[in-house]
Amino acid sequence: MTTDATGAGVTEQALAALRGTADPRLGELLTGLVRHLHDFARETRLTQEEWQRAIAFLTATGQACTDTRQEFILLSDVLGLSMLVETLNGDRAAGATESTVLGPFHLTDSPVRALGDDIDLVGGGERCVVSGRVRSADGTPLPGAVVDVWQADDKGYYDVQQPGVQPAGNGRGLFTADAEGRFWFRTCVPAAYPIPTDGPVGELLRATGRHPYRPAHIHFIAEAEGHTPVTTHIFVAGGDYLDSDAVFAVKQSLVQDFTETDDPSLAREFGVTNPFRHARFDLVLERTA
Ligand code: BEZ
Ligand code: FE
Repeated sequence: MTTDATGAGVTEQALAALRGTADPRLGELLTGLVRHLHDFARETRLTQEEWQRAIAFLTATGQACTDTRQEFILLSDVLGLSMLVETLNGDRAAGATESTVLGPFHLTDSPVRALGDDIDLVGGGERCVVSGRVRSADGTPLPGAVVDVWQADDKGYYDVQQPGVQPAGNGRGLFTADAEGRFWFRTCVPAAYPIPTDGPVGELLRATGRHPYRPAHIHFIAEAEGHTPVTTHIFVAGGDYLDSDAVFAVKQSLVQDFTETDDPSLAREFGVTNPFRHARFDLVLERTA
């Protein structure tokens, strides 16, 4: 069969070839993908050389993936696709904590810690207490809720990026909320940091004149029986890059004050010396239907 100059014929044939897909959702996804890819090539008048270059880039992206590095997720992150998928699927009850991207530095086996523990195993950064309550969207506290925490240090590195420099488990902890749903821990104020730029995604950022920084944040996954878990961060209010996160993951509701505190009774309660920074926020979960 011949095709016209716009390529409409080949698009029709490629779409027709998918009509036998047994799984209807797979058929829908592939049909949408082919339609949009063909329209993209038509609209941009994609050249042979450009397509070869794109294939070389995608090949390099795959080759950069290892057991501990996922360059394709990073690519999805910097293109805003991870955050778009997250937003399209993150419909929450009013008042529930908003979700954001998981990122590549989560470990499935965070060290179990007691409430009040210090997750900064190195010291040196600005001292900080994070406290709050895990509760249901209707306000009911959730005793026994599990709160998984991970963060970069005060220089902007995760423990897994600096084996032999930071002890394993630095900046990480798995906490269980008390009988009133409360959680609290000590740490240092994290710094903003660049996402990895030594691979194809770094090349893409440089080619597009973009910086690689994420604003300072602490990651959380909160889980409680009968509730939908939430994967989220809190961002340090007033920090750099809140308006230009390299992965577009900032939501205004997640930007929290890390208040300068000099209150002797609070310092006693949390076992810290004054002055310290204090971030207070609740993790609010949606009940499963
Ligand atoms: C992170 O916050 O750990 C992260 C998220 C997306 C890409 C890179 C890092
Ligand atoms: Fe992070």
